[in-house]
Amino acid sequence: MSSELLKALALDVTNAGTYLGNGEWSTATGAGVLKPQNPTTGEVIAEVQATTEADYETVIARAQEAYKVWRTTPAPRRGEAVRLCGEALRKHKDALGSLVALEMGKSKPEGDGEVQEMIDIADFALGQSRMLYGYTMHSERPGHRMYEQYHPLGLVGIISAFNFPVAVWSWNAFLAAICGDICIWKPSNKTPLTAIATMKICNDALKDAGFPNLFFLINDAGTALSEKMVEDRRVPLISFTGSTQVGRTVNQKVAQRLGRCLLELGGNNAIIMDETADQKLAVPGIVFGAVGTAGQRCTTTRRLIVHESIYDNVLATLVKAYTQVEGKIGDPTDAANLMGPLNSPEAVQQFLASIEKAKAAGGNVEIGGTAIDRPGNFVLPAIVTGLKNSDEIVQHETFAPILYVMKYSTLDEAIDMQNGVPQGLSSSIFTTNLKTAEKFLSAAGSDCGIANINIGTSGAEIGGAFGGEKDTGGGRESGSDAWKVYMRRQTNTINYSDSLPLAQGIKFDL
Ligand code: UN1
Repeated sequence: MSSELLKALALDVTNAGTYLGNGEWSTATGAGVLKPQNPTTGEVIAEVQATTEADYETVIARAQEAYKVWRTTPAPRRGEAVRLCGEALRKHKDALGSLVALEMGKSKPEGDGEVQEMIDIADFALGQSRMLYGYTMHSERPGHRMYEQYHPLGLVGIISAFNFPVAVWSWNAFLAAICGDICIWKPSNKTPLTAIATMKICNDALKDAGFPNLFFLINDAGTALSEKMVEDRRVPLISFTGSTQVGRTVNQKVAQRLGRCLLELGGNNAIIMDETADQKLAVPGIVFGAVGTAGQRCTTTRRLIVHESIYDNVLATLVKAYTQVEGKIGDPTDAANLMGPLNSPEAVQQFLASIEKAKAAGGNVEIGGTAIDRPGNFVLPAIVTGLKNSDEIVQHETFAPILYVMKYSTLDEAIDMQNGVPQGLSSSIFTTNLKTAEKFLSAAGSDCGIANINIGTSGAEIGGAFGGEKDTGGGRESGSDAWKVYMRRQTNTINYSDSLPLAQGIKFDL
């Protein structure tokens, strides 16, 4: 890793991966070592000590202590803490964006964009800190008033994925912080350095201003510590981003203890192009959606459903566009490149295995679909045709740049195809027909948490609630009223009369 980057981030990578609060990083060893690799070269970038059980207990105890102070700190004051984190991130955007590109493998502009999402959600959370609204209700009883208020929940466990190694933490942590909660972050074991850097940036800003310990960090070399947190009754909310398979287990374990879960799981997102689609808009939207972040967004466009009348033309245009992308695959820290490597050698294997499965099912690889012969985890993004939406491989989310292109003839058929997968995260249609657009957004249209018109499936803004249905897990985070999941709701009834009328007109004469 370039020493300049380290200096800019004031990052000492010999740190243990556990932030204990009070500016203190654990020096404990013995719980295993994480060895994040540079996906561009395959080299190990650093060694990070995983969190010991004893340190986990210290984190929980300190988080509980901090919560006692934080829960009664006025919410707008809590907003000020998040504002300071946003300011610190602004200052370090370039360096942190580069570290994201280096460790995760996404392009430098996308790495910077991810830090921008953190800054944006900090601004959003600051405003929201003055708007933790509850309803007031009219009581059926005279001389009574009813209202509801939102109180903090307590400790929030955030388990994030490698593909958005810092933004997803901030969507959760900044909202949870203004809600009065204390966060414990378990990042992906592929991307501990970006997490350590983010913790340093935010916690230094908080400490300098005298705020309590709001954000803790733990790292897990395997899965045992994460499981412990998932099962820990002292952590009332677990926010989990990752695969549907792991999310299902997390959900069961949290449900077992009647805890709360926020799940952001897999997507199998489709773009429909109808016969009126504006291709000038659609093609860049499709290409960004399919190859951006090397196909490793949960919002990545994995299926393209094209009206039969324009199918041949669209396919030819896309293949041409992919040829251009092929010339801009390389080191993600070089801002000239559009696409970096996959995050791990295992991801390359999964990509290649999916291509083989697609071929075995009768698919034609129109372009790409192979690994690039050079160090690192580079592949050529693939366009696959000739498969049915119901084919097993199309139903499955391969976290890599594979786009299945299919034809349709009627809108109902296209919507059925779009909805005909287990996942339900993001969807979009390119059309200039008003009726088609409205139908797509109607109750009989897309069944996804995100449905767009004339923009692609990925690149959602932080202001909207982010998440999806079915195998995507049902959680919503980031904008709109997603803050409510980080709080507990209390209904209050106040009697200011001189009698005690019972609800529902019940008489209870003593
Ligand atoms: C993810 O892939 O886990 O909508 C999050 C997007 C980004 C977030 C993706 N803003 O593509």
